[in-house]
Amino acid sequence: MMEPIIVTSALPYSNDRPHLGHLRSTYLPPDVYARYLRRAGRDVIFICATDEHGTPIALRAEREKVTPKAIADRYHPLIKDDLIRMGCSFDFFSRTTEKIHYETTQHFFKKLLKEGCIYEQELEQLRCPKCNKYLPDRYVEGTCPYCGYESARGDSCDSCGRYLRPIDLKEPKCAICGTEPETSATKHWFFKLTAFQGQLKEWLEKNEKTPANVKNYALGWISEGLKDWCITRDMQWGVPVPVKGAEGKAIYVWFDAPIGYISATKDYFLSKGEPEGWKRYWQGKILHFIGKDIIYHHAIFWPALLMGTDEYHAPDAVIAGEYLTLENKKMSKSRGWFIGIDDYLKNFEPDPMRYYLTSVAPLERDADFSVDEFIKRYNDELADVLGNFIHRTLTFIERFFSSAVPDAKLSEEDRDMLAMISKTQKEAALALESFKFRDALMTVMALAHEGNKYLNNSAPWAAIKTDPNKAAATLYTSAQLVKALGSLLSPFLPFTAEKVWQMLGIDHSVHKAPWVTCEEPLKAGHKIGKPSPLFKKIQQADVSKVKSDLIPFQDVGPRIRMDDFKKLKIAIGEVVKAEWVKGSRGLLHLEVDLGEFGVRSCVAGIAKYYSPEELLQKKIAVLTNIEPTTLFGLKSEVMLLAAEGEEKVSVLVPDRGVPPGSGVR
Ligand code: 2FM
Ligand code: ZN
Repeated sequence: MMEPIIVTSALPYSNDRPHLGHLRSTYLPPDVYARYLRRAGRDVIFICATDEHGTPIALRAEREKVTPKAIADRYHPLIKDDLIRMGCSFDFFSRTTEKIHYETTQHFFKKLLKEGCIYEQELEQLRCPKCNKYLPDRYVEGTCPYCGYESARGDSCDSCGRYLRPIDLKEPKCAICGTEPETSATKHWFFKLTAFQGQLKEWLEKNEKTPANVKNYALGWISEGLKDWCITRDMQWGVPVPVKGAEGKAIYVWFDAPIGYISATKDYFLSKGEPEGWKRYWQGKILHFIGKDIIYHHAIFWPALLMGTDEYHAPDAVIAGEYLTLENKKMSKSRGWFIGIDDYLKNFEPDPMRYYLTSVAPLERDADFSVDEFIKRYNDELADVLGNFIHRTLTFIERFFSSAVPDAKLSEEDRDMLAMISKTQKEAALALESFKFRDALMTVMALAHEGNKYLNNSAPWAAIKTDPNKAAATLYTSAQLVKALGSLLSPFLPFTAEKVWQMLGIDHSVHKAPWVTCEEPLKAGHKIGKPSPLFKKIQQADVSKVKSDLIPFQDVGPRIRMDDFKKLKIAIGEVVKAEWVKGSRGLLHLEVDLGEFGVRSCVAGIAKYYSPEELLQKKIAVLTNIEPTTLFGLKSEVMLLAAEGEEKVSVLVPDRGVPPGSGVR
């Protein structure tokens, strides 16, 4: 019997919508992989859910004065919908607030207790005297003891990435009211992580499928020595701890979240009316796709939990996608520097972004999203290479052969081209099997490149008049390439692939066709459908619209205080004299009448944009209290202010008549 495979994506917290960084690291790679496996005829399911417990949700609820469940209810459908619209082909998308999840988590807890892997211990905890409650994880904010970052949270530091406990923070504050917490001892339950050190090391060392980035991190942590892990919290929101004396405590979200992979599988089979169906998958291959920030949880905590129960085996692979920056700057939700999936989909189709995120860098390397690069790849690769080849092939068949794949005697060159299909198929499959998604996509795109070159060289539009058999052979061959491209691109560009097959007049979905189908030729005489362009090229004139559609916010950089702003004395002055600065390229020398502040000399680098005559008698804004300098022997006492557009520079002129010397605030 074929081995069952379960593929999972890290469960997103149900308190916010996903952005491109999440898509790149966590959701797109397993989707590509699962789509490929399905077509390769493997017994695979792709599972996800929203992670609905923990302080991320509880805190948000507290700030909005609603229940945590209400937050989860609001975000669950939005998150699921964003990912599905992006093409993520989950077999099931569950929630960790389902009953089955509570049962499964509590079973895990009790089983581990029975196996002697969980013990009780008193622990010093932070408590807010004002809110009158314990402050677990993100309920505390303070300074990171390792790197000094001032906004570290009680579970981790965003700056150095270290895993923290609330009591580790320096100058801790309650995240709700800002009060300094007190410490108080309370009982908690610990998982004996230390007992699994050897087993974890052996599992990682023998694990052939897990990529090096994950292995190296995890083996490094093991060699530093692991600590037992506190798996309960003093809070209401979460799966109740199923033992006496634990009233008012919940199981820690990082204990229950990965169990969500199992309960979501159970939920899936329950929905199909096969309550036992989930088991096979958890006895088969287990592959987890995650972001690099949660390697510890998946390569240390989670396998140890699985090992401890004696009912499961540890994962076969943990694959971690590295970070995505936006225009080379770290994405930040709080500063608005990110592109939400929903924002992207308001103006664009899913496939160009799937293409970009897969092709820009291997998964185990950091990557950048840049709009210029996005436009370049879209135009040069998707439109010019792929779209153009497919469109030309199909329109020539429509025009020269009444939409029927032509019959022809093939030359050696045609046959060489056709042989590339099988080679590409095998190479792409090999790369996909080892999670080298970029390599796989580039291999397929190389076939499109070759197809384009071949079509250009064979020039069927000319040959149709002089050598009709040659034109027929070229278009027969190109039609097979188009079919193969549609097929081989289906894991990466699922919407485009389906469209290609529809335009070819194939009567079934590419996603249901076996992977090797790409090697079965369309028969001569097969009627194709109506061709239409796949990717409309982005014209130069539209570039700024694409930019503003994609990047809604600009990062303004560090904020300044009002006191600092007030130090700038900006005033309106009238230009009473203006002349070129001899010997300089870009400078003008101005005399500016600033009313009560007198007439001041100004040397400004604006000669490229304004002539002296244009500036004379203009009222402009200048910074009056800048340190004076001397340029080309001329004193410059004030600084001219100007707006810098992409191509133009403009001085700032008041909209209404105000006298020279008027302050600007
Ligand atoms: O980091 C996160 O967003 C977590 N919600 C991921 C959980 S993955 C799994 F363990 F459920
Ligand atoms: Zn408080």
